[in-house]
Amino acid sequence: MIRILGFESSCDETAVAVVEQGEDGKLRILSSIVASQVDTHRLYGGVVPEIASRAHTEAISALTYEALEAAQLSPKDITAVAVTSHPGLIGALLVAVNFAKSFALAHKLPLYSIDHMRAHIASAFLTEDAPAFPFLAITVSGGHTSLYAVQSPTESRLIGATRDDAIGEAFDKVGRLLGLSYPAGAAFDALAKEGLITATGKTDAAEALAAFPKCDLYRDPLYRLPSPALQGESLDFSFSGLKTAAVNLLHHLSQKGEEPDKAAFAARYTYEAVSAIAKKAAAALDTYALPAVVLCGGVAANSHLRAALSALCKRKKARLYVPPLSLCGDNAAMVAAEGCFAYAYAAPVGSELNASAAD
Ligand code: KG4
Ligand code: ZN
Repeated sequence: MIRILGFESSCDETAVAVVEQGEDGKLRILSSIVASQVDTHRLYGGVVPEIASRAHTEAISALTYEALEAAQLSPKDITAVAVTSHPGLIGALLVAVNFAKSFALAHKLPLYSIDHMRAHIASAFLTEDAPAFPFLAITVSGGHTSLYAVQSPTESRLIGATRDDAIGEAFDKVGRLLGLSYPAGAAFDALAKEGLITATGKTDAAEALAAFPKCDLYRDPLYRLPSPALQGESLDFSFSGLKTAAVNLLHHLSQKGEEPDKAAFAARYTYEAVSAIAKKAAAALDTYALPAVVLCGGVAANSHLRAALSALCKRKKARLYVPPLSLCGDNAAMVAAEGCFAYAYAAPVGSELNASAAD
């Protein structure tokens, strides 16, 4: 029996969790505590790094003992410590890295350095129906939009990524212009749903997406937006292109003194964002002959993206794994889950461990 204590502080969530791996290899969450700072950052329209670091520092110690208590464990019951060391906001990352180092040293436990994006992929293993290797991992978050061909716990290859903005960032920035508060993802999702239902008359998300290109709104030049899927064979994206076109369109309307139909606009924007991911995912499944898809990261909560990928996987006869909503956003259970793989396959790190903002 392995029990991993996981720490996460890469952005605006301070999180601590304990995950247990049984003899059968299955992972089970014993506790998972997330202290979100979004209410604080919302006042500024986005994450303020210095405020994030301070809030992590204030929260992390109490959260650790809360997580141990919730799991009904004491430090001596823990096998190893896992902490997100990259990528993220450097000052924010340093809080959990230093706390985890001290905890591991004080309790003589091995320490593992975790990549935040690999942890998002590992969140899929925290469900009853864990994926089998190999699979295509689609990681969509506030800072990343990436496709990985994952062959085993230790072998994964980045096969596509955004060349500029991430999909979550694109939703947040354009959402702000539509008057949605930070982070705009969930409200954008609801607004797009309204727009898609009005445009297509279909309440089922997958049916609405399928019908959308044939409806009048899609052909309306007023709401024309470019696809973030790069042309040709590349599996890369450009969400900055979609975002800039949207910003220009909204500015143009406001200069003419016109109000946009926000739901219609959100529908078109979401359709382009989601279709681009589905298009490149389809190409990736074919090119790399992968039998399954793992969709993860904060934007995996998007109902239209889930519907588009579910339709795609049905068509391609591929299995789709999407973690529950509670595991899509940043949390430490996913860090502890990746920690289980690290414990089995990687070397522990020492007190020289440092945080890094880069991938
Ligand atoms: O993975 P995450 O919690 O943090 C990062 O590692 O970035 O992802 C946060 C992102 C934010 O951009 C947020 O707006 C987006 O996930 N998000 C959504 C939805 N829920 C959260 N985006 C679209 N639709 C949603 N339902
Ligand atoms: Zn994340």
